[in-house]
Amino acid sequence: MKIAVIGKGGREQALVETLAASPCKPELFTFPGSDAICRTATRIEADGFDALIQWMVDNGIDLCVAGEESYLVKEEGLANRCEAAGIPCWGPHKESAQLEASKEFAKNFLLRHGIPTGAATAVESYDEAIAAINGQYPTVLKFDGLAAGKGVAVCPDAASAEEFLDEVFIQKRFGAGRLLVEEFLTGPEISIFGAICDDQYLILCPARDYKRLEVGDAGPNTGGMGAVASRQLASPELLKTIEETIVAPTVRGLQADGLPYRGFLYFGLMLTPQGPKVIEYNCRFGDPECEAVMPLLQGDLATFCLKGARGEFAPELISFNEGWSICCILASAGYPASSHSGDIISGLDDCQARVFHCGTKLTPGGWVTAGGRVLAIVAQGDTLEAARTLAHAEAAKVDFDGSQRRSDIGYANM
Ligand code: AMP
Ligand code: GLY
Repeated sequence: MKIAVIGKGGREQALVETLAASPCKPELFTFPGSDAICRTATRIEADGFDALIQWMVDNGIDLCVAGEESYLVKEEGLANRCEAAGIPCWGPHKESAQLEASKEFAKNFLLRHGIPTGAATAVESYDEAIAAINGQYPTVLKFDGLAAGKGVAVCPDAASAEEFLDEVFIQKRFGAGRLLVEEFLTGPEISIFGAICDDQYLILCPARDYKRLEVGDAGPNTGGMGAVASRQLASPELLKTIEETIVAPTVRGLQADGLPYRGFLYFGLMLTPQGPKVIEYNCRFGDPECEAVMPLLQGDLATFCLKGARGEFAPELISFNEGWSICCILASAGYPASSHSGDIISGLDDCQARVFHCGTKLTPGGWVTAGGRVLAIVAQGDTLEAARTLAHAEAAKVDFDGSQRRSDIGYANM
């Protein structure tokens, strides 16, 4: 089996390595890939989307796995292009990927199908936004488009809301677009992953993401500074509620709306005093959650995804270990406001944990940083205590100039 994995970060490396370890022993290819991924997968040399699709056809790719979201909604959409070319794709069509690409589309979907979520108003100007906020703080402002994790602002007061509205409507930092003014919800957050195959689904191992930069959930939002994965993160009762009120209605809603879906679907939930509510959908695995979840997976992910992409749901092919997995992110100097490249990374050879590369480059002198989030250091254990002790001890061995790491991953919010 020949599989092409699309993307270039730590999530895609975790997917590639887990797919490669499948008993069916697939041959792995990647686009655009990274130096680290290309130790396991062969880089597809393609100049753009058309060339990528043609390469997959010419080289007899059996399965395309979408890692990151951007390709799903780019031009005609990765899954749509694959379908037209006769290549099974694990990842949804462009129309369905609007669940992630448009906050307003997602909100309308949630409301239409009676799935619990915060109340919201869509607005298209600064003044409309101020009117919709109506002096109620905190408020949550969400730009209606892909914004690399920077399009959401939780605003405690009028000054912070006005600052964000200025970025959106005056400076047009994210381009043209509307905005959702959303009710502020409270409670712990949890990331739930579904593997969706038309009208069927499997709920995978849940995870918790650490979105803020600094210890104690302080500082700015990031793409995620670490993650914890374990089936024990959600009790069977909670999982049942999440399945009945959120996952199953979502899958029925996709079917009812004629939105084709075969792939991972990420439910970002807040466990509010009124029960779990959806904060966001993402049409792919989470990053860094994927780096934490994948090492717990048992079975044949490659055949599971191939069958799923062909419309044959085969949940018996994968399962998850009972233990805990902790992922610590090392981010570059200046992240998330900026990022710093070219800093030499030391200690990788001493590190006994699994290391996934989020943003690195291999130079003649060794690995150097090449992005905001640089490395994901991941360790497992039978207990939370064992996993987090090991993850932090191993992460501490790896260093580069200006490296940033949260020391409370697996400790805070547990
Ligand atoms: P998102 O990009 O939609 O995942 O939002 C980023 C973060 O903003 C979430 O992980 C939450 O911590 C926070 N957030 C989003 N929506 C809300 C909400 N309605 N109430 C409170 N916090 C929120
Ligand atoms: N960890 C959050 C995300 O992947 O969007």
